[in-house]
Amino acid sequence: MAKPKKRYVCQQCGSVTAQWAGQCGDCGDWNTLVEDAGAVVTPFQAKHNLQGGGRMISMSGLDADVPLPARMASGIAELDRALGGGFVEASATLIGGDPGIGKSTLLLQAAAKMALQGLGVAYVSGEEAADQVRLRARRLGLGNAPVQLAAATSVRDILTTLGGAQPPALLIIDSIQTMHSDLIEGAPGTVSQVRASAQELIRFAKERGTALVLVGHVTKDGSLAGPRVLEHMVDTVLAFEGERSHQYRILRAVKNRFGGTDEIGVFAMQSEGLAEVGNPSSLFLTSRDDSVTGTVVFPALEGTRPVLVEIQALVVRLASGATPRRAVVGWDSGRLAMILAVLEARCGLSFSTSEVYLNIAGGYRVTDPAADLAVAAALVSALSERPVAADAVAFGEIALSGEVRPVAHGALRLKEAGKLGFTRALAPAAQGKEGTVALTGFRNLNDFVGHMLGR
Ligand code: TYD
Ligand code: MG
Repeated sequence: MAKPKKRYVCQQCGSVTAQWAGQCGDCGDWNTLVEDAGAVVTPFQAKHNLQGGGRMISMSGLDADVPLPARMASGIAELDRALGGGFVEASATLIGGDPGIGKSTLLLQAAAKMALQGLGVAYVSGEEAADQVRLRARRLGLGNAPVQLAAATSVRDILTTLGGAQPPALLIIDSIQTMHSDLIEGAPGTVSQVRASAQELIRFAKERGTALVLVGHVTKDGSLAGPRVLEHMVDTVLAFEGERSHQYRILRAVKNRFGGTDEIGVFAMQSEGLAEVGNPSSLFLTSRDDSVTGTVVFPALEGTRPVLVEIQALVVRLASGATPRRAVVGWDSGRLAMILAVLEARCGLSFSTSEVYLNIAGGYRVTDPAADLAVAAALVSALSERPVAADAVAFGEIALSGEVRPVAHGALRLKEAGKLGFTRALAPAAQGKEGTVALTGFRNLNDFVGHMLGR
């Protein structure tokens, strides 16, 4: 029999190489390559995979009847919204996020709510002692919820315990990085262990109809620790985001085999746990002041949900010839560089001797391209020291030519702005009018700058 080939797996990013090296060629991290046994193919399997002899599988059309997946609402509306309507039976969900962001708190609250509805709920903690979880539940006022709680890390023990006649409807594993499968060697948290443990748990969930929730920690570069593989294995991936120093938390669906990935849930971390935020716009807006320069409100869209956020810019002129800094929080720095370049090349404004800082208030992260015009407004306002009217919002996409382009869902954005008391919108000329908010339309960025500077 041929000697099995050695392979090395990066514990950081999960990339595989045939040769050990001190530094991972993919993510660049040091000392992260670990030998991995990989899949061992027995001569028996090899023979059966090589020679045909498989059974016929049945094929059918796309229009064949399908039962809708059975869902269990958690009773936390913001969580159900991100999930697309609740947890799905016989499915696996991964919740990723930085340590301390509130994953355990959210799941404990969901577990308690569902248990109080009469569903069988098991919460297995590999990170905290059972008493610690109990104390937290008591502090959250959930001490009397009939959640089955255990502190364990052995997947075999967990599945033996829960695999009886009545498997739980919801099983929470906090976290997958602490789990250990004895089918495979290696310490908990390594790629092969995480993969094997998840595989066993997911198989259990699919076979027994349990909704499985895995908590996964995120690494510094934002990927789930080690196991990118895990994202492929589960049905739904939720990312729990936010700045720990801020109160707000956003639960975002990154992948969802049972629904869309464009919904978010918004929470605020309070002393009595995570509170749902039904009206996120009010959260991200500071009180508007007519005299402050460099700030503008942008009606962002999260899926089908409008969220008003404040964009803040600061432009500091440098006296010396030092290289000016550009710093961005909550937006794409490449996109900022592009907007600055268009303002310089098409509108004759100069930022080259100024430092530029851009911040999205409240720890919110904007990915919507419609933010371009709002960012330009904040930058021009900061540079010219002329405030943007406090009752106006701005949105629109900017092309390299300087053209201001219409964006999707203008009506939704305008409606939300109107609801929160804004009366004007600086927007693309081609954007359709809708509702009570008055539109000031611009065909290109030069016109817009002219309007801002009163020239
Ligand atoms: P936790 O759920 O333990 O985070 P994770 O599981 O993602 O690591 O949340 C920990 C943080 O949340 C901790 O820093 C304290 C804070 N917190 C509150 O502010 N209020 C609360 O009611 C709870 C339970 C936690
Ligand atoms: Mg935790």
